[in-house]
Parts: sequence; C-alpha cells; structure tokens
Amino acid sequence: MKILIAGGHIIDPSQGIDEVGDILIEGGKIREVRCHGKAGEKEVNEGRDLKEGRIPYSRLTAHGLEIIDSRGMFIMPGLLDMHTHLREPGFEYKETIKTGTKAAIQGGFTSVCCMANTYPINDSATVAGFILKKAAEEGSCSVYPIGAITKGQRGDELAELGMMFDAGCVAFSDDGSPVMGSLIMRRALEYSKIFDIPIISHCEDLTLSGGGLMNEGRLSILLGLRGIPAASEEIMVARDIILSELTKGRLHIAHVSTEGSLKLIRDAKDRGINITAETCPHYFSLPEGAVGDYNTDAKVNPPLRTERDVTAIKEGLREGVIDVIATDHAPHHRDEKLREFEVAPFGISGLETALPLSLKLVSEGVLTMPQLVERMALNPARILKIDKGTLKVGSDADIVILDTNREFKVEAEKFASMGKNTPFDGWILKGRAAVAIYKGKVNNL
Ligand code: DOR
Repeated sequence: MKILIAGGHIIDPSQGIDEVGDILIEGGKIREVRCHGKAGEKEVNEGRDLKEGRIPYSRLTAHGLEIIDSRGMFIMPGLLDMHTHLREPGFEYKETIKTGTKAAIQGGFTSVCCMANTYPINDSATVAGFILKKAAEEGSCSVYPIGAITKGQRGDELAELGMMFDAGCVAFSDDGSPVMGSLIMRRALEYSKIFDIPIISHCEDLTLSGGGLMNEGRLSILLGLRGIPAASEEIMVARDIILSELTKGRLHIAHVSTEGSLKLIRDAKDRGINITAETCPHYFSLPEGAVGDYNTDAKVNPPLRTERDVTAIKEGLREGVIDVIATDHAPHHRDEKLREFEVAPFGISGLETALPLSLKLVSEGVLTMPQLVERMALNPARILKIDKGTLKVGSDADIVILDTNREFKVEAEKFASMGKNTPFDGWILKGRAAVAIYKGKVNNL
C-alpha cells in the first residue's frame, strides 16, 4: 500500500524544508517529497474545519493508494525522545515497553531512548538485548537502549561499555544516580571517544542535595521541606564540562533546570568545548510553586525551580545553547505518588504532554517551528547518531501530522502510559499530534 500525505506544511530542518507539499510513502519508507512553495497563512488554513469533534483531515483509499489530506496541518519527522524511562525489566507495575511506546506514539514520538535504571540495571549486553527483543515484539515505536555507565549504577566500576555498544546501546548514563566519582567519570568520557557516542550526565552532587525534596529557597522553608540547591546541579555541570575539556570525550548534560547551569554550558560552548545539553518541558512550563500544596505529581529530580530559571531555560532553548527537548518520562504507580511528599518517588509522566507544552514556545515566539523540530527530532538523532529525525527520501516513514489548532484538556487518567503522574492534569493545551506514522503504519490519534 502506498500512502500520500497531501497538502500539508512540511517542516524538515534536515533538508531546510519549510513549505507546503506532499509526501509519498511506500514499503514503510519515504519515497518522494514534493514541495509546492512557501506556505502562507491562507494556504495553511485552507480546508480546515475547526468545529468541535470534527477531524479536520480525511483519509481516502483508492486503487491501492491511501491519501491523507493534511491541508491545514504541519507534516514533520516523528519525534525522538532521548530520555525516557520505560521501566521494563523489573518495574512493570509502573510501565512496560508496550505501554510506554504506546504513550510515545500518542505524544508524536516515533523513537525513544530508554534509561538504564531498570531491574536488573541495563549494564550488560544481556539486558540491552532483552529490551530490544521485547521492543521488536511488543513496541509501537523504535526503542534504543541507553546502557549504564557503571555496574549496577553503583558508581564504583565501569560497566561493559563495549559489549553494550555492540548490543545496540546508543549512549551511556547512570541517570537517576549521578556518577559522583570524578575518576570514573573521566574514564567513561575517555571510553566514549572509542564508540563516538555520548555520556549522558545526570548532574547532581548528592552530598550537597543531601536528601532534599524540592528546590531550595524561600518556598522550601515555608513548606518545611528539605531543599536541593541549584548549586548541587551546577557543581556537577562545571565538573563534567572540565572533564570533557580534559578528555575531549562526548558529554551530554541531561535535564538542565537552572540559570547557573545554562551559563556554564553557554560559556563552555563559547570556548569551543564539544558538549550538548537537554531540558524537559516541565522546566520551561512550571516553576517550583507547583509543589506548594505538597503535590507529589510535581516532585521531580532535578526539582522545579524559580520563575527566573524558567525564563533562563527558555532563553537557552531560543539561543540553541540547549540543543534538545527531552521528556524524562518517569512513570510511577499511583500508590507510590499517593504517599507523603517526603517518601513519594521523583518523576513526571511526560511523553503525552511534551509536544503540546513545547508548542507553547512557538506561540510565545521563543522558537520557530523548524527550531522546535530540530530540538525534538533532528538534534537528538544527530547527537546519538541515529538515522531518524528526517524526511529524506529513503528514510523510515516516521512522520507526525500536527494540528496546531486542536485544543484539548490533559486527562491523565486517559494516558496510554501507566504513569498518570503529571502536574499538567486538567490543563487546556493547544496543538497536538493528529496522526503519528511509524515505519509507514498510520496511527490516528
Ligand atoms: O525525577 C526523576 N525521575 N529524575 C530522575 O533522574 C530519575 C527519574 C526516575 O527514574 O523516576
């Protein structure tokens, strides 16, 4: 079956495409991209029917050709989330590869990279192989495992990086448990050069965060909750930048949350140090006040920060100092999040809200649409050397058709993810994926 996506506004920064056109899919691959010229407001909105409940695109099948009328929509590469927790093996009561990849598709992600803090930890070719096999059998999108940096994520001995690389790991990270020892981090960065894949650093000085529960400041004092100072992130960002300068290894800084971290990364990049960085939608959408009523769904690590940090993170995205928007999708069981703030686990279920929250950056004028696609698809693919994030002819037909006018209410209970833990429940957001095509398979959302 051939599929023609007709008349949408194609955004593909990998080829500099930002215009109305059609895409032909055959055999799960992109066969042809035809552009008709620059999209004007009128053209983009032509064919739109905004009446409640009406699907504004249509599908027609004739003579073995399915036509998806996407006038009024954006057509862009499927998104790639380089920071997802799929929880399987070991924590299937929180999420599985099956449910997590379904949630990804709902959110417009056709590829996810899963962190190593499973049980057992993904610190061997065996666990990486299990994840890939399970994903091939039950997954709705591509899954790329990220191997642990240290055995058991204990921070004292390097894991078998070479074997995990051979098994298909695309990066190494002890995310969730920062690598405290500088020598072992140095070695990891040296090794990363052999494989030319990044070390993803969860930057946190545990001795300084000292069991903290939220951002340290006036609010943490008022709430009587132990605080995590911005400095506990920034000290490790500074250390890892220095180690990356020393080793010339490939460093990617995970979930940047503070203005200070941003300044360090900007300065490092200005000095020509080869590092990359990501942030997550909650760090540019929500300040620390969200935990004000001891809402455990807003408890995340690093913690939500101040208004000033939120503004700085947006600025970092605008400038390109922050290369990537990743979700840090961290599903937890409802019973765990129902516990007291002190003992509830850190994490936000993020796959199904990331794109609409990021689209707010476009409406606020922080990012252009091509920049958004860069941060959510092309840049992560480039950083991880994954052949995705593009609409080039011959690529997998991983495509999102985006309706920027569709308003909807976030209803966590309806998430495909088993993790309903989101501080955005009940928010009215505008814009979401209407169709997610994965290797030519069409998912109407
Ligand atoms: O909030 C978080 N949750 N931050 C992390 O670094 C780990 C994650 C998890 O695994 O739940």
